[in-house]
Amino acid sequence: MAKRRLWGIRAVLWMGHAGALWAAEKPHVNPTGFTPSQVCGTCHQDIYAMWKDSKHARAFENPLFAAAYREVRREGGSAKELCLRCHAPIAGITGDLNAQQAITREGVGCDFCHSVTGVAIRDTGSPFEVEVGATKRGARVGAISPAHAVQPSILFKSSRLCGGCHEFRNDEGLAVISTFSEWRASSYPSELRSCQDCHFVPVSGRISVQRPGAPGATIPDHRLQRNQEQIREAVKLDLVRTTRNAGRVEVVLAVRNIGSGHAVPTGHPSRRLLLKVEARSAASGALLGDATQTYEKVILGGSGKALLRDVELFLRGREVRDTRITPGQARTETFAFSVPSGEAVRVHAELEYLYRSHVLAGNEWRVQVARYDSLIPAN
Ligand code: HEC
Ligand code: HEC
Ligand code: HEC
Ligand code: HEC
Ligand code: HEC
Repeated sequence: MAKRRLWGIRAVLWMGHAGALWAAEKPHVNPTGFTPSQVCGTCHQDIYAMWKDSKHARAFENPLFAAAYREVRREGGSAKELCLRCHAPIAGITGDLNAQQAITREGVGCDFCHSVTGVAIRDTGSPFEVEVGATKRGARVGAISPAHAVQPSILFKSSRLCGGCHEFRNDEGLAVISTFSEWRASSYPSELRSCQDCHFVPVSGRISVQRPGAPGATIPDHRLQRNQEQIREAVKLDLVRTTRNAGRVEVVLAVRNIGSGHAVPTGHPSRRLLLKVEARSAASGALLGDATQTYEKVILGGSGKALLRDVELFLRGREVRDTRITPGQARTETFAFSVPSGEAVRVHAELEYLYRSHVLAGNEWRVQVARYDSLIPAN
């Protein structure tokens, strides 16, 4: 078993041969290096099937990362290694910085997470302590496997495991990705609710093919689904009041983050939440006025200009303009419209989660989180 700090140069020496020799043999766990996820999947079939379609499995090969990464490579310099640290984390241990080996391209694979023994989140260059080989770590005490030793580790129930990648502060001191610290500043840690409690929830399935299928058996969901229901349950839109004085309508709305463990939206700044309000004539449908409130995190460079390209965000971000909704927070917004007096007015409000990639045009995802309609009679 080899204990290595990620991105340690010494680690380059041992993996190359062991990996190649082992690959020729029949599937079993590699005692001296990383095992491909597919091999874990021969026994852990249900978990493998979930992981395979997850963002973790595609962290390196998905077209958005690939496009951004191509740009980074064209610019040269050390940024390339920075990207791999979270999108293809074993590259730093094996030294495969050009992603020549299939196992590197697996992104965040089984054997990376299940070999982590410690996380130092403040060490932004090399937060993970990894012990790779014949022992796999998991949350449960008492698991016994014919293929590998099992060591119980509380890290697997802890947000720290996730925080090694879902938090990043650059050399300018700016928290480019701050999901972990948003969670830590919330009331969830004191309620003992970690990332896993919301993102690795129990779903029915078998832990391994060796274990006879028992009714009601569950396994942690490894899919990381981007789920509409999850967003709809987490964010609420309420009407506080509408008031009308002759030629003016005022609409007061409250947006509340009641169920997300961090800011909404969180993570990469390509996500935003939009509150769109419009007032129309009830009789003709003519638009009388509209307005949009945006909740987002914008990363600014030295000149105060918004940065969009990943290489700029990560390396050159200096400041942040953050209008996102923190856990438990309620935001009250007031919209006022001039309307013809003596006419009934229809007010429509809509809360929309918008994901839009800046790397590849046309990559967009929208969820209507909530809507509200009201008819305000003529006074
Ligand atoms: C991002 C890190 C990560 C990746 C990648 C990952 N896992 Fe897990 N895995 C976890 C965490 C965290 C838990 C514990 C969740 C809990 O119990 O709340 C877990 C639990 C498990 C368990 C124990 C299930 C139980 O009910 O006790 C097995 C087995 C497992 N994973 C296998 C795999 C396999 C196989 C893969 C790849 C196909 C994989 N994991 C990929 C983080 C990961
Ligand atoms: C030959 C079959 C086989 C292979 C291959 C295999 N495992 Fe396992 N593994 C098992 C069995 C069986 C258990 C015990 C499950 C139980 O408790 O019922 C287990 C348990 C585990 C646990 C502990 C679960 C817990 O509850 O904490 C983890 C984590 C795990 N395996 C990860 C892996 C990873 C990662 C790989 C690939 C590197 C892998 N396994 C490869 C059969 C296998
Ligand atoms: C080794 C780094 C790493 C670790 C550890 C890790 N993640 Fe991730 N995670 C990523 C990367 C990179 C992505 C984005 C992949 C992409 O879209 O290119 C991601 C994506 C996700 C997403 C999906 C985001 C989306 O856009 O839909 C969720 C949810 C998530 N991770 C939760 C977790 C949780 C919970 C843990 C801890 C149990 C964890 N991650 C551990 C690197 C990691
Ligand atoms: C109380 C439940 C809860 C906890 C705890 C929680 N999350 Fe989330 N997470 C959500 C919900 C709900 C969403 C969807 C709404 C949103 O974007 O905030 C989400 C979204 C995300 C996303 C973005 C997915 C996307 O589609 O863009 C990532 C990444 C993520 N969570 C990671 C984490 C990490 C890492 C932790 C721990 C530090 C964590 N979450 C803790 C509930 C939770
Ligand atoms: C500290 C870990 C970390 C580093 C370093 C990192 N990323 Fe990511 N990246 C993530 C996580 C986590 C996500 C997705 C989940 C989220 O939104 O939080 C992500 C998402 C992305 C996405 C998807 C954005 C979208 O539109 O959905 C792209 C593209 C990307 N990263 C490119 C890069 C590039 C290029 C680099 C190197 C300059 C890089 N990343 C460095 C963790 C990291």
